Amino acid sequence: MEFNNVLRIRRSVRRYSGKAIPADSLERIVQAGLSAPTSRNQKPCRFIVVRNREILKQLAHVKQAGGAMLENAYAAVIPAADSSIADTWAEDTSIALSFMHLAAANEGVGSCWVQIHLRKDEKEEDAEENVRKILSLGPAFRITGILSLGMPEEMPAPHQPDTNDRERVTVME
Ligand SMILES: Cc1cc2nc3c(=O)[nH]c(=O)nc-3n(C[C@H](O)[C@H](O)[C@H](O)COP(=O)(O)O)c2cc1C
Repeated sequence: MEFNNVLRIRRSVRRYSGKAIPADSLERIVQAGLSAPTSRNQKPCRFIVVRNREILKQLAHVKQAGGAMLENAYAAVIPAADSSIADTWAEDTSIALSFMHLAAANEGVGSCWVQIHLRKDEKEEDAEENVRKILSLGPAFRITGILSLGMPEEMPAPHQPDTNDRERVTVME
């Protein structure tokens, strides 16, 4: 797809049809995460691709709200950054998530960012620690978010250009 068109049609997709994501599409999405820039090119992220239904179900409950779609996702990708390598783990994981979200849109695959960092579960336990436990990751691994992936049940309509958005732009010449 033409890049500007990807930007135009990109939406967060939380409802999935249950159809399989083609393996080559999933591979290109993960590849987009791997190709994302990282501070000082330190590449601190590991990319954990979850297809296991039981693990997806567990991930859906690591925080109070906003992660339920993971239960019906075809897959989830979790960029987990080793904070002993990079103090820019939040930025590096976020850029990887964004690249994969855009790559998914380009593939016609639905995806949604599930925020983990700074979130808590029903028992006020830390969502990031919950994810580390489920994925058997050590305490140095930091997780900003999870990318939930599935073939869209329906594709939300593209946003209409919002003329008010221009008010958020300041041009200094
Ligand atoms: C940092 C960040 C965290 C987000 N966390 C969640 C989340 O936990 N659950 C969710 O359903 N959507 C989450 N989203 C998706 C936003 O709700 C969504 O991008 C926003 O409502 C705009 O909709 P759109 O992506 O379809 O344009 C998150 C998005 C970002 C950028």
